[in-house]
Amino acid sequence: MTDQTELLLVNEFHPETIARLDGKYRTHKLWEVDSKDRIELINSLSGKCSAAASASWEVDPVVYELESLQFIAAFGVGVDGIDFSKTRARGIRVSNTPDVLNDAVADLALAMILAGSRNLINADAFARQGHWLQGPFPFGRSLQDKTLGIAGLGRIGQAVAERALPFGLNIAYHNRRQTESDFSYHDSLESLARDSDILLGILPGGESTRGLFNRKIFRALGPEGLFINIGRGSSVVEEELAQSLAEKEIAAAALDVYENEPRIPVSLSRLDNIILLPHIGSATLETRRAMGQLVIDNLAAYFNGSPLLTEVQN
Ligand code: DGY
Repeated sequence: MTDQTELLLVNEFHPETIARLDGKYRTHKLWEVDSKDRIELINSLSGKCSAAASASWEVDPVVYELESLQFIAAFGVGVDGIDFSKTRARGIRVSNTPDVLNDAVADLALAMILAGSRNLINADAFARQGHWLQGPFPFGRSLQDKTLGIAGLGRIGQAVAERALPFGLNIAYHNRRQTESDFSYHDSLESLARDSDILLGILPGGESTRGLFNRKIFRALGPEGLFINIGRGSSVVEEELAQSLAEKEIAAAALDVYENEPRIPVSLSRLDNIILLPHIGSATLETRRAMGQLVIDNLAAYFNGSPLLTEVQN
């Protein structure tokens, strides 16, 4: 029997989890309602519904119109879709899904490091299109003894570093504050870029990181450098990255995230020294299922009055 507890579902973040939530609660799907009618749905839930579930990176602001809202269970670790000025002011609690996605995102970062260093995507096209008949593919770069600079050494960065060490990469990092890590610390992004052969961005979104990867940083990385971003697209000035790639100020880039997803600027997609992925860092069957389970468990804890498993402190 379906519980009569009301739950607002903001977007279709993971169909399998949505189906499980449908079996547990009386769900209301915001994305199935025309945008002009959404406020009517929200008003009809006022006083009856106190919880919502949503992708962490994208929350329709109409949810904050729900006067009785007390909890948002976010699917994802990066909570840049949440308007914390509103949640703080209203005492709305928020949970996210950290840790369960560290391995998947770190695996993808390694794949991007390898694919970027050995130019694998272009090598595949070269082989398929018969260019090999005219001569060999240009050499790639080895990883041994190169420096991987990690901008944002948190839990995912640590998981990337553990995977990178067996490839012979040296690890350096920049955070706002030095951590207890033994890796070599740089107190500025520019200094990290200057010391890195591969610069990996794992910065969260939001105003404090907006545009930090800009032309000055790409010039510091230099003409042999590889830039990779698996954090948030808003941390990169995309037009300046495109210029640096076009003018060979850096050798290559690989991106999984963009400022206006799912839109990718043509200035980037027309270049052949960049690998473009459609934000698939955590997109494995197992990881998305584990993220969904954490959403379900946080909702159960909220409704039972138990401590949330992974509450975002803000
Ligand atoms: C997250 O959880 O923030 C990821 O970017 C989603 O893949």
